[in-house]
Amino acid sequence: MSACPFSEPSFPMARQCPFLPPQEYRDYQQQPGPVKVRMWDGRHAWLFTRYDDVRAVLGDNRFSGNPAEPGFPSLSEARNAVLDLPPAFIRMDPPQHGHFRRMLTKEFMIKKVSAMRPMIESIFDRLLDDLLRKGPPANLVEDLFLPLTSEVIAWLLDVPRKDHGFFQEQSRLKVLLDVGPEVPKAASERILGYLDTLITERSKDAETREDLLSRLIVEQVRPGHLSHRELVIMAELLLMAGHETTANQMALGVYSFLTNPDQLALLRSDPTLLRGAVEEMLRLHTIVHYNAFRVAMEDVEVAGQLIRKGEGVIALIAGANHDATAFPNPEKFDITRKAEHHVAFSYGIHQCLGQPLARVELQVVFGKLFERIPTLRFAVPQDQIEGKGDHFVQGLQTLPVTW
Ligand code: HEM
Repeated sequence: MSACPFSEPSFPMARQCPFLPPQEYRDYQQQPGPVKVRMWDGRHAWLFTRYDDVRAVLGDNRFSGNPAEPGFPSLSEARNAVLDLPPAFIRMDPPQHGHFRRMLTKEFMIKKVSAMRPMIESIFDRLLDDLLRKGPPANLVEDLFLPLTSEVIAWLLDVPRKDHGFFQEQSRLKVLLDVGPEVPKAASERILGYLDTLITERSKDAETREDLLSRLIVEQVRPGHLSHRELVIMAELLLMAGHETTANQMALGVYSFLTNPDQLALLRSDPTLLRGAVEEMLRLHTIVHYNAFRVAMEDVEVAGQLIRKGEGVIALIAGANHDATAFPNPEKFDITRKAEHHVAFSYGIHQCLGQPLARVELQVVFGKLFERIPTLRFAVPQDQIEGKGDHFVQGLQTLPVTW
């Protein structure tokens, strides 16, 4: 409950354990309806943490995800700066949202992404070969996971390999929360500028190429369904959403296995548990913590609470994924749990478009990593492994390992 019973709790709340959502979410789940919280700018928002309520809010299009709507809750100045930039469809409401999202649906269909599995496996094998050749110790975030996820998304967009370091760094800067607003804004502008040039170049011979950007140029830009600028913004969303998230999830997945050797032994004894293990790590860590900010576009009642038009709402998927009524004993990493109904990829119209790709990447990594490096272990005492703290996307600062 709130530390002071006479005032609303402040949001965001600090984590007591870097690897679990704040204890307050579990407390709030004991009472019906949302909790009124105070944001950094003194305004209020309704906080939902229960599984059913979070899905009710995210599945209801009377709540807008457009930060330009009056009353949209603000997380921090740095986040405001990002939200002030020209919006991609992740921040749009219907019907505009569907217009853009539909242009990409076929690119991320399960069948299409499954066909990418051999390519992802071969990139991962090559990176693992390099890592083993160099020998221990290694930082798995920088030496393995970021290179893997950036190569995959860069392959999809056909971004030159020499530029991977550049967009990894800009993506990292864009999701920092505890910096001045100029930091994420400048990072975003640098990526947009880079993509603007890339797409201008690509337009010259798009017909002869097979990457996703070329297809969008030919099928959407040329017939006038999508402007050059809109394509630049869409490409930035894919580049951003596509690698930092998945790399962070991989690092936290390794952390979970190394701190739960019984679960690792279980996976090694029965590889059919792999898919369930991936769903369980997505649920447990719910790395995209602050995505689901919304504002009511009309009066709406949820869980017995009337939310008035113009009031802000936060539907916490991390809370939902730790609701004991949906996931008994939620703090336990249990790869035999049936966790597929988790909402780590959100819920409703903004549910992650890239989830089939993220799943395949995670399955490739956890299907191979401990097989190829059976003696993998932390290179420092476990309590020195640091979580990312108050980042928009949860993860590990570094993952020092040896073998
Ligand atoms: C473990 C990895 C990932 C996680 C946990 C994750 C999580 C999420 C979440 C929670 C949302 C909803 C955001 C919101 O409502 O503001 C989202 C949206 C999105 N994600 Fe992911 N994501 C992951 C990987 C990817 C990948 C690999 C891509 C592919 C390029 C991708 C592309 C997108 C896009 C385009 C959206 C916007 C969808 C829309 O608004 O219609 N994500 N993701």
